[in-house]
Amino acid sequence: MKTLSREFDTTTTKRNYKQVAWFYNLWSLLTESKAARHVIKLADIHDKETILEVACGTGMVFKKIVQLNPNGINIGIDLSPDMLRRAQQRLGKLTAQNVVLKEGNVLQLDFSDERFDLVINNFMVDLMPVDTFPKIAKEFYRVLKPDGRLVISTFSFGKKRINKLWFWVAQNLPGLLTGCRPVSFQEYLIQAGFHIETSIEISQNTFPSEVIKARKKQRIEHGK
Ligand SMILES: C[S@@+](CC[C@H](N)C(=O)[O-])C[C@H]1O[C@@H](n2cnc3c(N)ncnc32)[C@H](O)[C@@H]1O
Repeated sequence: MKTLSREFDTTTTKRNYKQVAWFYNLWSLLTESKAARHVIKLADIHDKETILEVACGTGMVFKKIVQLNPNGINIGIDLSPDMLRRAQQRLGKLTAQNVVLKEGNVLQLDFSDERFDLVINNFMVDLMPVDTFPKIAKEFYRVLKPDGRLVISTFSFGKKRINKLWFWVAQNLPGLLTGCRPVSFQEYLIQAGFHIETSIEISQNTFPSEVIKARKKQRIEHGK
């Protein structure tokens, strides 16, 4: 199945997520929460790590990250101030100096090289244009420490016949899904230098997703 084309501009994306922020928690509970549980399990978080979640949305996964890493550094970025506001509300008393939520764009990650032990990214790549995929994979790679982990989930094509319904929705009613559509991101991670450790296909209430755990390969030093 082909990957549907999409365009990206920050103004439209912010406007779209301003409109859906109020019911996003219900949507994710019904379609993405199962993937989120796999993400947290695969992330294998240990306290005192330095963790970035890109496109943290309303904070469903970010809150778990903070709970599992109370003495580490937890940074969540998102393009949408409205989604971030909901994430802040969800954190409640968990707000602390080592917890940062701020606006940011995956295409211009404002972090130095090799800063993070773990990068998490859920259901964002599927709304970006395919020609941005190599850049996104490279940015994840750049900000991870050697041997660092990336755990990412995306809207996928799915393996079951019923999953194809969602391709139809993405194709014919894209506005209903804020432009998200099924994608396959693994090849871009491999091209960027990642080693794929795990890939799991999930179907939740017929909605298909893929969770991938990848690792930044240690650089091989030649001539030593
Ligand atoms: C489908 S929602 C997923 C939210 C959250 N990750 C979750 O799983 O609940 C997509 C999120 O990606 C954010 N987003 C879209 N484009 C982005 C970009 N270029 N950089 C950072 N965040 C972006 C949106 O604002 C929105 O919060």
